[in-house]
Amino acid sequence: MPPRAHPQGRRDARVAAAAVLAAPVLAAPVLVVAVLVAAAAGALSAQAADPAAAVARGAYLFDAAGCLGCHTDEKNKGARLAGGRALVTPFGTFYTPNITPDRATGIGGWSDGDFVRALREGLRPDGQPLYPAFPYTSYSGMTDQDMLDLKAYLFAQPAVAKPNRSHDLALPFAWRLPLLGWQWLYFEPGPLVNQPSRSPAWNRGRYLVEALGHCGECHTPRGWFGDLERSRAFAGNPALPGGDKAPNLGSDPKRGLGNWSDSDLLALLEFGLTPEGDIVGGSMAEVVRNTTGKLTVDDRKAIVAYLRSLPPVR
Ligand code: HEC
Ligand code: HEC
Repeated sequence: MPPRAHPQGRRDARVAAAAVLAAPVLAAPVLVVAVLVAAAAGALSAQAADPAAAVARGAYLFDAAGCLGCHTDEKNKGARLAGGRALVTPFGTFYTPNITPDRATGIGGWSDGDFVRALREGLRPDGQPLYPAFPYTSYSGMTDQDMLDLKAYLFAQPAVAKPNRSHDLALPFAWRLPLLGWQWLYFEPGPLVNQPSRSPAWNRGRYLVEALGHCGECHTPRGWFGDLERSRAFAGNPALPGGDKAPNLGSDPKRGLGNWSDSDLLALLEFGLTPEGDIVGGSMAEVVRNTTGKLTVDDRKAIVAYLRSLPPVR
């Protein structure tokens, strides 16, 4: 798959192509050359569009998507983003890879297309499937532009030479190829499409919850094969790896968040404070520290708007 062009670039190219088709009618070959030169210049300027701005946008997306925690082995004082964090699951232990721009041990050799394919389709550059312990099942909902900005940010971080540690999985999970079947059964690649009947805040909240924040990866129960039970989305997961219990985020007053006010929810997302005055624990503490606590107020409000619309689920 070729790297996906910036939508603006694609539109420019279409306009240019239309102009090229029209040109012979005008019987002015000079014009054709001029249009082609202009189109080429336009494509270049679209690509080079302010790299610093892309990195800054990518930094925000990086927080909103919570890439840091999994890809940094904080426990053993591992280098930032150089991987090695152990994720213990029922299928075995995963060790996260190095996602610094080091060419030999990280992702420094990856093209834009490689990076987009990993997040959108869960495939490595060699075409092998990735384990959904990497929540590409959610990130797949991101726009191409957000993925490319995220890559610009990652590639602006220091390169760390640290070889990846192989996962420690029981057979048959140690084999990657059967994952293609898993993807076929349980994975629907994005991107998310805005729902025009809903408000911009709701759509933004949906994007933050479903794609970037990958909240469902913990708050939605899983089936036997580690698949997310979409019909019970956000009903909670009482058996997260590591023994955590992720509560129900639906609008049921007893089992879910139905009795929480908007400001209760905002305080939880910003500071990790519960209505009882406790501090959230477990993996949610990390989510607040690395993700929801770092968002803009408007983005946290958008998350609340979206959570409010979740149906009650048991
Ligand atoms: C819940 C933990 C978790 C989070 C959050 C996470 N990752 Fe990962 N990531 C993993 C694991 C585990 C793998 C290895 C998957 C495999 O081997 O198939 C991985 C693999 C990758 C790979 C493939 C690297 C390679 O060498 O094959 C890339 C690229 C990547 N992650 C980028 C990201 C980015 C960007 C983010 C944030 C948007 C992110 N990850 C968030 C756990 C995570
Ligand atoms: C890595 C797993 C994980 C992710 C990702 C995650 N959560 Fe949580 N969440 C938890 C756990 C575990 C708890 C329970 C914390 C506790 O018991 O103190 C929790 C608690 C909560 C609560 C408090 C609910 C209650 O009834 O106490 C809210 C609200 C919440 N999460 C919202 C979110 C949102 C919104 C996102 C996405 C931006 C998100 N969570 C992502 C694991 C996660």
